[in-house]
Amino acid sequence: MTGETGHKLRGDYSRMRPDYTVDQEWEKYSPAEHELWRRLYRRQESLVAKYACGEFIEIMERLDFGAGIPRFDAINEKLARATSWQLVAVPGLLPDLTFFDHLANRRFPVTVWLRDPEEFDYIVEPDIFHDFFGHAPMLFNPVFADYMQAYGRGGIKAHELGAIEMLARLYWYTVEFGLIDTPQGIRTYGAGILSSGGEIAYCIDSPDPNRIGFDLLRIMQTRYKIDTFQETYFVIRDFQQLFDATAPDFTPYYGELRGREPYAPSTVLATDKVYHRGTAPQRAA
Ligand code: PHE
Ligand code: CO
Repeated sequence: MTGETGHKLRGDYSRMRPDYTVDQEWEKYSPAEHELWRRLYRRQESLVAKYACGEFIEIMERLDFGAGIPRFDAINEKLARATSWQLVAVPGLLPDLTFFDHLANRRFPVTVWLRDPEEFDYIVEPDIFHDFFGHAPMLFNPVFADYMQAYGRGGIKAHELGAIEMLARLYWYTVEFGLIDTPQGIRTYGAGILSSGGEIAYCIDSPDPNRIGFDLLRIMQTRYKIDTFQETYFVIRDFQQLFDATAPDFTPYYGELRGREPYAPSTVLATDKVYHRGTAPQRAA
């Protein structure tokens, strides 16, 4: 398996099932790995209280998974009751269609391995801390849970239509790096932010990046950076907006977008609803 940038992936793909799932083998995590999880969790806990949306905080407190690397089967009992989702263990990143098929069937793939201590602040590939801490709590929210399934179904269709790149931008700017407008101010529901020690404060407090209102077609036309903090974040009003905006058939949208040049990640358009215009240099569209 190779990742998006073509480098060799570090997970063990030799013993998986055809759908890329493996057993979690929870007993095999070392005491040092559980200790690293506790450190990661503790750092994130205080940040989340200030920067995460209420939905995330509430579930996280209820689940209380900070004592060590969680067991998927224990979470799955609760998740089944809440939204009928399940976590499945995987070696790491998956081929697009395999990933979409899991989501379309309300299964969220979670990487089994934990980063090394040297990667405390930054990791290239998603590990169990990102996948679990960032993604699992949001799957307890009924509207968001339905959005994720619809995304999986949409992915299978986008694959047939050759539109995965456009749809992937939507995932990136919502599921991974999405912001939400709340009575307490702008907060985050994006897993890439929620599991990050640095970007979680940056995305909300820093004057550098743009914060722009959610706009489906605009997002699907906007490139993103995978190796730095984002230059632009998109803000939803609530999860219903996300679900409703993405409910229509995307086939005509893809047709419309195909001929257009994608925007740079830093672009601000005259038509954008600007919550904050980034002050970092080279902002002109
Ligand atoms: N409605 C989209 C389509 O027809 C599917 C989708 C739903 C995509 C939710 C993303 C998020 O392709
Ligand atoms: Co993720």
